[in-house]
Amino acid sequence: MELREELKRKAGEKAVEYIKDGMVVGLGTGSTVKYTILKLGELVKDGLNIIGIPTSIATEKLAKERGIKLGSIDDYQVIDLTIDGADEVDKNLNLIKGGGGALLREKIIAHASKYEIIVVDESKVKDILGDFPLPIEIVKFGYKRTMNVLSTLGCKPQLRVRNGKAYITDNGNYIVDCKFDKIENPAELERKIDEIPGVVEIGLFINMAKEVIIGKKEGIEIMKIP
Ligand code: A5P
Repeated sequence: MELREELKRKAGEKAVEYIKDGMVVGLGTGSTVKYTILKLGELVKDGLNIIGIPTSIATEKLAKERGIKLGSIDDYQVIDLTIDGADEVDKNLNLIKGGGGALLREKIIAHASKYEIIVVDESKVKDILGDFPLPIEIVKFGYKRTMNVLSTLGCKPQLRVRNGKAYITDNGNYIVDCKFDKIENPAELERKIDEIPGVVEIGLFINMAKEVIIGKKEGIEIMKIP
């Protein structure tokens, strides 16, 4: 296994230690939390009883294949613990998410969660957010105008394209990836973007993560809100 993949695996698998019998568990999306879900599948096979709430159609499929019992956010409006990935993490545990396009469902589930744990490899930890283009989910109607308005905030918005076509989220919307120089004040930026009509959700997760598990060459580091 390539080193980065190995670090993702370490972080992802570590997170299952937080899952206890009887919990309602939010299941994140992406290539790091995949390792959490695979490990959780083994524990479920050995008798662990939990309900998983998936943050995407891809995660729902993977969890089902692994025999994890699933529920919906409408049936379980309070989630004990959510484990998810991120594209960038800063020292205050603010995040950029949405590289995999699941930010809207991820944010709804994070908001419903009593405790949110993020699993990343060490390359994702930054002093200041913004190397990774910020994913923003927007409605299709008027998307060119919405992108133009976004550019007035100082970013270069790119409509996300996959296989030659505009990428469509699980919710039927577009994603725009917005490259900012540096995001010095994520809360203020989130507020400004949120005011733009046509914006559905923003990949900034502020004050949502309680703990970040980082897979490093030397082992595991845990960053935590005191
Ligand atoms: C999904 O939309 C994202 O928010 C993911 O959680 C994020 O992109 C991390 O994914 P990887 O673990 O695959 O990098």
